[in-house]
Amino acid sequence: MCPCALKHFCYQIIGLSVTGVPGSMEVTWTTFNKTESLVEYGLVGGRLFEMTSKGYSTLFVDSGHEKRHMYIHRVILTGLKPAATYLYHCGSDEGWSDVFSFTALNDSTCFSPKFALYGDLGNENPQSLARLQKETQLGMYDVILHIGKFHTEPYDNARIGDEFMRQIQSIAAYVPYMTCPGNHEAAYNFSNYRNRFSMPGQTESLWYSWNLGSAHIISLSTEVYFYLEFGKELLFKQYEWLKKDLEEANLPENRAVRPWIITMGHRPMYCSDDDLDDCTRFDSYVRLGRNDTKPPAPGLEDLFYRYGVDLELWAHEHTYERLWPVYGDKVYNGSSEQPYVNPKAPVHIITGSAGCREKTDTFNPNPKEWSAFRSTDYGYTRMQVVNTTHLYLEQVSDDQYGKVIDSIWVVKEKHGFSAWF
Ligand SMILES: *[C@@H]1O[C@H](CO)[C@@H](O)[C@H](O)[C@H]1NC(C)=O
Ligand SMILES: *[C@@H]1O[C@H](CO)[C@@H](O)[C@H](O)[C@H]1NC(C)=O
Ligand SMILES: *[C@@H]1O[C@H](CO)[C@@H](O)[C@H](O)[C@H]1NC(C)=O
Ligand SMILES: *[C@@H]1O[C@H](CO)[C@@H](O)[C@H](O)[C@H]1NC(C)=O
Ligand SMILES: *[C@@H]1O[C@H](CO)[C@@H](O)[C@H](O)[C@H]1NC(C)=O
Ligand SMILES: *[C@@H]1O[C@H](CO)[C@@H](O)[C@H](O)[C@H]1NC(C)=O
Repeated sequence: MCPCALKHFCYQIIGLSVTGVPGSMEVTWTTFNKTESLVEYGLVGGRLFEMTSKGYSTLFVDSGHEKRHMYIHRVILTGLKPAATYLYHCGSDEGWSDVFSFTALNDSTCFSPKFALYGDLGNENPQSLARLQKETQLGMYDVILHIGKFHTEPYDNARIGDEFMRQIQSIAAYVPYMTCPGNHEAAYNFSNYRNRFSMPGQTESLWYSWNLGSAHIISLSTEVYFYLEFGKELLFKQYEWLKKDLEEANLPENRAVRPWIITMGHRPMYCSDDDLDDCTRFDSYVRLGRNDTKPPAPGLEDLFYRYGVDLELWAHEHTYERLWPVYGDKVYNGSSEQPYVNPKAPVHIITGSAGCREKTDTFNPNPKEWSAFRSTDYGYTRMQVVNTTHLYLEQVSDDQYGKVIDSIWVVKEKHGFSAWF
């Protein structure tokens, strides 16, 4: 299982993430013994491992019956040169990882970042993984967004989590791998998720926002609407945080340079699958909130509409579905010829078919009028935030050997609440 000679100092699970501070990158990995937390790195073409950054580790004791111990190491590299490529390894003098490389993100608001996005990629049946690995290594993506569900259950004393992290290392060690929690991360109050990832902010990766190019990207936990036993207060805390974050992103000086507001959360507000999930109901919890809690819990549709969220990315359903611009269960096309040119409501994409143990889902034969395109092929989505007015999305089918089966341009001359009218 472990390639290193020194078994207990074995290094696995390397992942990069953005920190919210331009010119920096966070490296996260795990060891089973307590060691120093070092990253040695240098510019490609320069002297190898010229620079060293030191971080810290925290002990994570899994809650399964074996109470396995692991140390999660986190090191932040700062002062990186935008768009420059670095070689690095991590570990300590007791053992080093393989050598990996990454390109520091270009921090210009004129930058046109390229993303791969998907949810529901698991360690069993990870159908799209090979294609994503290769495309990442070819430099096709600046960032990956994994929209929840890593299939780390069942769970085997966190060994399934180990295995999944090892598997995505071939992607996550090369480009920032940004995540949000999904329903299969719930075991022991999402403790594997909270411990193993290092997203920006102080919420143990549950909700956060960051900026790239002309986009402000918000990641949230839809799971707070479903696992009330882990703390109903989390739902209200997140809601207040979202409101504050959206308010700030909408300050005229902020929205002028980063007009695109994109959200990602695991369970969609709408979907036309036939599995009786939240999104198949008119009164979805994520969309409309819950009134069986005290006080009633507000949903997210009105909030996102009010603050002019442009694009909402979801997963959970093991299918791909694109919606016409929608609000309040009604379609608000820009025009019927060009529905995504100056749309009058947010655009929703559901991309949960990367491949996992549960295979793909099936669709309801009579979708509502907001359903624009659907596919049960395994695959993932590509997105490019081209500039302040143009954003491109396309769906790749892994079943059809990488064929692009759907694409749209979202074009907006105006952003924000007033753009709806
Ligand atoms: C490393 O960790 C393993 C497993 O927890 C433990 O058995 C071993 O004694 C540790 N070795 C050292 C040198 O600390
Ligand atoms: C960052 O992207 C912008 C816009 O494409 C480009 O003009 C600039 O040269 C890039 N910066 C670097 C360091 O490559
Ligand atoms: C679950 O984890 C969250 C985040 O750390 C924490 O705020 C909450 O209190 C925990 N809930 C329980 C029941 O331990
Ligand atoms: C609770 O919400 C549901 C739909 O979200 C609605 O049908 C029901 O009437 C509400 N009940 C109360 C008491 O407000
Ligand atoms: C929205 O636009 C699409 C594409 O032209 C069209 O098929 C659909 O009927 C429109 N929906 C409404 C409600 O106008
Ligand atoms: C934004 O990108 C689109 C598509 O490439 C292009 O047609 C348009 O001219 C660009 N707008 C600006 C202001 O550069």
